[in-house]
Amino acid sequence: VATTVYYAAASLDGYIATSDDNLDWLTKYQGSYEGNGAKPVEGGYDEFYEEVGALVSGSVTYEWVLEHIDIPQLGGKWPYSGKPYWVLSSRQPRVLEGEDIRVVNGSVRDLYEEMSSSAGDRKLWIVGGGPIASQFAAEGLLDELWVTVVPVVLGDGKALFDRPLPGPPMQLTDVLPRPSGMIELRYEVRRDA
Ligand SMILES: NC(=O)c1ccc[n+]([C@@H]2O[C@H](COP(=O)([O-])OP(=O)(O)OC[C@H]3O[C@@H](n4cnc5c(N)ncnc54)[C@H](OP(=O)(O)O)[C@@H]3O)[C@@H](O)[C@H]2O)c1
Repeated sequence: VATTVYYAAASLDGYIATSDDNLDWLTKYQGSYEGNGAKPVEGGYDEFYEEVGALVSGSVTYEWVLEHIDIPQLGGKWPYSGKPYWVLSSRQPRVLEGEDIRVVNGSVRDLYEEMSSSAGDRKLWIVGGGPIASQFAAEGLLDELWVTVVPVVLGDGKALFDRPLPGPPMQLTDVLPRPSGMIELRYEVRRDA
């Protein structure tokens, strides 16, 4: 069974985008870790991505990727080739020919089995946004939260989650300071009362 992981970068005040879907604060962020406490840990995205079997996002996130495909981080082409990418939408967003992009409309509870089995025994990456992650969490289908905190304060924007998370507090499982000055926090989402 696939593990569902919501892996996203958030501002220090908990937003994953500005309210008009700008991510410059993340894509253009340049910082460094100058502390003398915990050692910085290299790696991050590439190692995570290797463990991913399938991806799921809302339509706004999907269309953001399509519109920004030329930024250096995305490299001018669909960055998720070879892995199923599920887009939740009530519309018919443009789909790139030749890529495994599956547009679906419905409750994540009903779609979960299909999405999860497409990931095999690897991770189902919940790319975002907050509404999607919150739907998984509300159904008890979110296993882990990996959040990379970027030391930028936006003041307003689209939140990491769009509603309170049910259940007991999450369990911290890892803390990884990155050389960039970002810090990755990993939590296991617990459902037992
Ligand atoms: N910092 C990061 O790491 C990070 C990560 C991910 C995303 N982001 C950014 O964060 C922002 C997220 O935007 P967002 O929260 O507005 O959007 P989103 O979650 O990407 O998309 C929301 C939309 O998806 C559709 N949808 C949601 N649930 C559905 C369901 N169960 N069935 C069918 N359709 C469903 C609806 O649109 P329609 O029905 O109209 O299609 C809804 O308006 C974007 O700017 C994105 O680029 C940042």
